[in-house]
Amino acid sequence: MDKKNILKGKHIVLGITAGLAASKCPELARMLEALGAEVRAVMTPNSEKLVTSGQMQAVTHFPVEDNIFDRSTPGSIGHIALGKWADIILIAPATADFLARLASGMGDDLLTCVCLATPSQIAVAPSMHFQMYGAPATQENLLTLKKRNILIWGPEKGRLGSGDIGIGRMLEPGELVKNVENYFNSISELNPFHILITAGPTQEAIDPVRYISNRSSGKMGFALAAAARSKGAKVTLISGPVTLETPVGVKRIDVVTALEMHEAVHKIIETDNDVNVFISCAAVSDFRPEHVSTQKIKKSEGVETSSSSVPSQTSEVIADDIMTLRLVKNPDIVKSVASLTTRRPFVVGFAAETERVEEYARIKLEKKKLDLICANDVSKKELTFGSDENEITMIWNDGIKKIEKCSKSEVASQIIDHILTFSQKTKSKEG
Ligand code: PMT
Repeated sequence: MDKKNILKGKHIVLGITAGLAASKCPELARMLEALGAEVRAVMTPNSEKLVTSGQMQAVTHFPVEDNIFDRSTPGSIGHIALGKWADIILIAPATADFLARLASGMGDDLLTCVCLATPSQIAVAPSMHFQMYGAPATQENLLTLKKRNILIWGPEKGRLGSGDIGIGRMLEPGELVKNVENYFNSISELNPFHILITAGPTQEAIDPVRYISNRSSGKMGFALAAAARSKGAKVTLISGPVTLETPVGVKRIDVVTALEMHEAVHKIIETDNDVNVFISCAAVSDFRPEHVSTQKIKKSEGVETSSSSVPSQTSEVIADDIMTLRLVKNPDIVKSVASLTTRRPFVVGFAAETERVEEYARIKLEKKKLDLICANDVSKKELTFGSDENEITMIWNDGIKKIEKCSKSEVASQIIDHILTFSQKTKSKEG
C-alpha cells in the first residue's frame, strides 16, 4: 500500500456538531476527498445553524444524514449500516455537550447512535470556549473517552469565537487530515513493526512525601513514540511520571518506579509477542531506597516515630546535620531485555553522559549488549533534559552517525529511520 495514498478508498463518517468551527467542515471534507477518501457527513440538528447540509452534500456528493427516523431521502442509510460502513468516525467539531453525551453512552440523535453502533475507531476534535474545555465535567468526560480508546485530537490554543484567547480552538483541517492519515498508517498491514519505548524519569519513594528522581521531562521518548507512530509502527510507550500528552494512536502505560517499568516492559514483550524494537529512552533511577518509610521521616530523628511504621533501615541520622539514606540497585531494564534468549527485540539504549560521552556510551553498548546506543551529552544545559532540542550520536558495533542539533521531533524521526533500516539489515544478516 502506498503510504502517500493511505486515505484512498477509506470510508470516513464526518460527524458535525454545533461548534463555531463547523464552518471549516466543507474544507475538511474537501481535503479528505481530494486524498481519495469517501466522506459521509452526519450532522446534529443544531450544527445546521453553522454550516448547511447543502454545503456538506455538495462537497461529499452524498446526502447528509441528520435524522435517525428519516429513511425517505434517496441514498441515506441507517445508523447501524453507517457505523459498519465507517473505517473511522471523526467528529469535528465536537462540542462539550456532544462529548458529554458520547461519554455517557446516550443515543438521542443519529450521530450518537452511529457512535454506539460502530466497531470502528472514533476520533473527536473538541471545539469550545476555554472555560467550557477546562470545566471539570468536560475534562472527566474526555478522560472517560480516552479510556475507551477514543482518539482526542486537540483542541489548540488560540483566539476563540468569543474573542478570548485560550485552549479550545479546533485543530485546523490540515492537522486533522494528518491525524487521520497517521491513524491509517499506524494500522497499515505493511508496517509490522511494534516499537516499545520507555520515556521520562522514574520516581523512587523515600517516604509518603519524598522521592528520588531526575530531570527527564519525557520529551525525547514521547517524540520517538510520535515519530514511530507517524511512520506506521504500532507503538507502546511506557512512561514515568510526566505532564505530556500521549501522541495520537500510541498505547501508553504509566508507571512510577523502576520496578514497575521493568515489569511493564517484560509483560508487553511476553504477552504481545510481537515487539520488534525496544528503545530505552527513560532515565531510570539506578537505585531506590532500601525501604519506603510508611510515615514522613522526621528531620530531627531520621527514624520514624509512628508505631505503625516499619523501623527505618532506610535512613539514619549520623550527626546533627547529616543523614544517610540506604539505597539498593534497581534492575537494569535495557540490559535485561538485551539478554533475553527468546523474543529478543532489536535493542536501543540511550547514554546520558556529562563527559567522555562517546567513550562511555561505547562501554554501555558493549556491557549491556545493545544493538545501538544514542549518546546524549547532557552537560549542555540548553539541550536534552526538558528542552525541545537535542543532538545525538548514534553508535553501534561498527558504525557511528551524528545527528546535529535540531528539534527533538526531528532527532526522533532520524533515529526511527535509522533503526528501521538498521534493524532490518541486522535481521537479514542473521538470516
Ligand atoms: O526526557 P527529556 O527531558 O527529553 O530528556 C531526554 C533524556 C536525556 C532523558 C534522554 O535523551 C536520555 O539520554 N535517556 C537515557 C537516560 C539514562 O538513564 O541514561 P543512562 O546512561 O543512565 O542509562 C543507559 C541506558 O540504560 C538507558 O537506555 C537507560 O534507559 C537504561 N537503564 C538505566 C538504568 C536502569 N536501571 N535501567 C535501564 O534500562
